Amino acid sequence: MSGAIILPVRTIIEPFRIKSVEPLHHTTTAERERYLEQAGYNLFRIDARNILIDLLTDSGTSAMSTEQWAALMRGDESYAGSESFFRLKRAVDDLTGLRHMIPTHQGRAAERILFTVACKPGNLVPSNTHFDTTRANIEFTGARAVDLPIPEAADTQARLDFKGYMDVSALGDLIRSEGAAQVPLVMLTVTNNSGGGQPVSMANIAAVKEVCAYHNIPLYLDACRFAENAWFIRERETGYADWTPKRIAQKMFSYADGCTFSAKKDAFANIGGFLCTNDDRIAQRESDLLILTEGFPTYGGLAGRDLEAIAVGLEEILDIDYLRYRIVSTGYLGRHIADRGVPIVEPPGGHAIYIDAARMLPHIPPQQFPGQALAVELYRHAGIRSVEIGTLMFGAAARHELLRLAIPRRVYTQSHIDYVVEAILEVNACKDRIRGLEIVEEPPFLRHFSARFRQL
Ligand code: F0G
Repeated sequence: MSGAIILPVRTIIEPFRIKSVEPLHHTTTAERERYLEQAGYNLFRIDARNILIDLLTDSGTSAMSTEQWAALMRGDESYAGSESFFRLKRAVDDLTGLRHMIPTHQGRAAERILFTVACKPGNLVPSNTHFDTTRANIEFTGARAVDLPIPEAADTQARLDFKGYMDVSALGDLIRSEGAAQVPLVMLTVTNNSGGGQPVSMANIAAVKEVCAYHNIPLYLDACRFAENAWFIRERETGYADWTPKRIAQKMFSYADGCTFSAKKDAFANIGGFLCTNDDRIAQRESDLLILTEGFPTYGGLAGRDLEAIAVGLEEILDIDYLRYRIVSTGYLGRHIADRGVPIVEPPGGHAIYIDAARMLPHIPPQQFPGQALAVELYRHAGIRSVEIGTLMFGAAARHELLRLAIPRRVYTQSHIDYVVEAILEVNACKDRIRGLEIVEEPPFLRHFSARFRQL
């Protein structure tokens, strides 16, 4: 070995090996044309076996670890007082420091219970950007969901280290003009999913908390992707480079009076969620409501084994090697398409890459759903499923016309992503031929899940 130059290997690899595999199923273009027609050009209506690479969502689609699968066997299925509940409670206490935790079957169940207890008609709930189910659950109570992203977030091409945060002065103005009594709580979504998977800085969390504290309004985190947000803080915000992701996450939660959480994201679970609060009275009312629809407060609509998987996942997600790989691999997809001319929301987010469909397809107006048109074309061309986040999902409240490519955790390898890159570049090369869509059938809310379309 004498004389050899020893350099560290720098390639960032998937920090896991594969023990169990699921085959993928190839389809022909002609078959996909037929499936699209049968599905009314709505990818939610296509059978998963006819999808090659599924980037519809990073939610509930994670690969669980050997430790999580092993923990399932430990699940205590007692109706009341299950050991698994206490195991999860200890994990959540350690992470959030919040006094009360009730399990729910997923994030939106926590949202529904929270807003049913907290909101009255005419109230408003500000956020950096509400996710679609959050917005729908607020509006279902007769309250208003208000998004207060920073003005710079309107420019998809602006490369800010923290682009997901809340406009603090707009929050102060809103509370003063509407009256603090009209604002039962303020939310911060970390990371900001509908705003491009962009992170929120610790400084912004602290500043929002200060405004809330001044007006005596509780601050809630929509904490679905708290660990990815913590990683961005570690990488980009001064003073955190040598903190562990866990310590950063604990500090994020220290500003919160409560949180909603979907364990289908940053807990690697296939189902589950929880709702936390420091308020004893609210916790009691939430538990009462929980029993009505979800189940007894020590299982909340989940099996004991699910509680175990979440408890293990909450620790695994904060692993430094995992988070480095996660954020780097999302960026890999983003850079490889953006640097060859596909406009994405810059910079790449944590769990997904968002193509700016309005910019890519300027010949398709928002009323003809450019994001959905692109989703349809990507499926037709390569069997890849993605999701529109734009006028179809949010109606007039949409700020952008985006196509989201969400990356399931620990599921796809680099060659899968290389295939996705190649397919997107090919679609981009023929983008002028993509046509818009018209709705022919839609439900009264959350229409993107089930609407049917006609190609124009
Ligand atoms: N909040 C955010 C920021 C979310 O991204 C989601 C779900 C929820 C709440 C609701 O959680 O699905 O467990 O009921 N987002 C998924 C997605 C569905 O594809 O982005 P849930």
